[in-house]
Amino acid sequence: MTAEPKEMTPQTVDLAAAYEDSGVKEVLRELDETLIGLAPVKKRIKETAALLLVDRARREMGLATETPTLHMSFTGNPGTGKTTVALKIADLLHRLGYVRKGHLVTVTRDDLVGQYIGHTAPKTKEVLKKAMGGVLFIDEAYYLYRPENERDYGQEAIEILLQVMENNRDDLVVVLAGYADRMDRFFDSNPGFRSRIAHHIEFPDYSDDELARISETMLAEQNYVFDAGGKHAMEEYIGKRRAQPHFANARSIRNALDRARLRQANRLFETSTGPLDAKALSTITEADIRPSRVFQGGLDVDRAHEETRA
Ligand SMILES: Nc1ncnc2c1ncn2[C@@H]1O[C@H](COP(=O)(O)OP(=O)(O)O)[C@@H](O)[C@H]1O
Ligand SMILES: [Mg+2]
Repeated sequence: MTAEPKEMTPQTVDLAAAYEDSGVKEVLRELDETLIGLAPVKKRIKETAALLLVDRARREMGLATETPTLHMSFTGNPGTGKTTVALKIADLLHRLGYVRKGHLVTVTRDDLVGQYIGHTAPKTKEVLKKAMGGVLFIDEAYYLYRPENERDYGQEAIEILLQVMENNRDDLVVVLAGYADRMDRFFDSNPGFRSRIAHHIEFPDYSDDELARISETMLAEQNYVFDAGGKHAMEEYIGKRRAQPHFANARSIRNALDRARLRQANRLFETSTGPLDAKALSTITEADIRPSRVFQGGLDVDRAHEETRA
């Protein structure tokens, strides 16, 4: 944002117009419509957007000069929408003029920390260069800190990150994401991060009902629908899958639907004799859900643990 010359300093501000013109309204509406549930998260994002709109108006009037700290932490279990929301926030910050480009760069420890002496600083700096003008999303950020290893290179990455979070906060927003308890412990041992992060947003687990609605919107996005039996089977699936290890909220649902579409295609091949209409090609039935091993008390996939990873 460039400072206006003094004689052009506005006397009043129309916040409603700023809300419309900036496109913030549009992003918030899309957030509301495309994401099921997440009421507390949506509320926090609206509040932050309001704060930033007022901050921008105050700067235009010369009432504020400091760039607000926009670094955030997103805590919650896997598949609760953290990465998805980070993308929307990057867009929002771009529309408000807080970052030049508004892209999201997602990394984990391995992208920042090298294996050998001298490798970490260049790796971290390369990532930061890519993320400048946008949002850097560090998934499972606490893995950067490994106190049990005496000379862990993670510490080097941490120091560079802290410096850039302080010095470049007008052009880079860092989001640290991961499980709530581990993130708490990470902040306890790294107060430098805690003091640089102003916004802590918690992502709750989805309820069974929310996951059922998410499954329907995910199918609709791909032009599929459940019939009554398919919908009911999916609801049962959700209850059973949640009780199993490596449950990953909406991500488990997405994976289950991928497998359901596979079964549907095979079912159509094996059973159809004549021409199929659009409805037949788009309907997910009970027969596409119930063969899942989840109904036999087993895991749906051999590598279910991968669901709980980024
Ligand atoms: N509230 C929601 N409504 C619809 N789809 C969702 C919602 N939350 C997550 N998803 C979908 O679930 C998947 C996992 O979400 P993601 O943002 O990667 O979770 P996380 O980063 O917390 O592990 C993505 O495909 C995403 O589109
Ligand atoms: Mg994620």
